[in-house]
Amino acid sequence: MNKHFGLSFNRSTLRVDYYKIPIDDLPNRLNGFRLAHLTDWHARWLFVRKESLIEALRRWKPHVVVSTGDFCDRRGDIPKAISYVEVIAAGWPMYAVLGNNDHDNFPAMTTRYLIRRLKEVKCRVLSNESVAVGFGQDRVRLVGIDDPLTNHADIDQAFLRTSKHVPTIVLAHSTEVIFGLHGERVDLLMTGHTHGGQISLPLIGPIRSADYYSRCGYWDGLHTIEGIRTYINRGIGCNALPIRINCPPTLAIIDLIKRPTE
Ligand SMILES: [Fe+2]
Repeated sequence: MNKHFGLSFNRSTLRVDYYKIPIDDLPNRLNGFRLAHLTDWHARWLFVRKESLIEALRRWKPHVVVSTGDFCDRRGDIPKAISYVEVIAAGWPMYAVLGNNDHDNFPAMTTRYLIRRLKEVKCRVLSNESVAVGFGQDRVRLVGIDDPLTNHADIDQAFLRTSKHVPTIVLAHSTEVIFGLHGERVDLLMTGHTHGGQISLPLIGPIRSADYYSRCGYWDGLHTIEGIRTYINRGIGCNALPIRINCPPTLAIIDLIKRPTE
């Protein structure tokens, strides 16, 4: 969490978090493989313009775009969420998992409709499954775990096709998924859900509680939690209130780099 002593009410201008993450066993050709990470869209109160998002992605040129949930809070917001995903997935391979709000705010049939619409616009929804991404035979495994907070995570199922010998990047909505990851190979876990607090007041910090690890102080950024390298993204939209204070909408750019062998 960045310390702020003033108040920034930015809810519409993207901030880019950039990291290089050393990965064991990364194939030479994937040295510099770039992931763009977006999360917590909350389409109703998403104030980042589609054009700014696309412009930033064009500038950073990721190889894939990943998303970790909370597309919308109401059935009626699905078209807006899909309109964003559609332009992104037209330009980049895009993979997504769902968040608690994608499951809890409407009946299961509406969640199925959301998944269908995401697939129709070429966004691959990883619902407790994995996919190999990379170039030719040189691949890393991208594992998508469905939302852990609403009991949709099936970690055994998600890891069925993984290998201890292949770098493994895990997508999940909430960092609480870590409770279920013991014993699995995880080179990087990418999550959201906290919104970085969404409203973070000087000296006080975030005013809301999000999940177990946010209560432990892990609100955003790169950390090693329970031995797992974890990046928590502040997200781009708002829920509960249409404001962000000291929690700018965030696009994360993550380069996987080969960890030198000794
Ligand atoms: Fe959210």
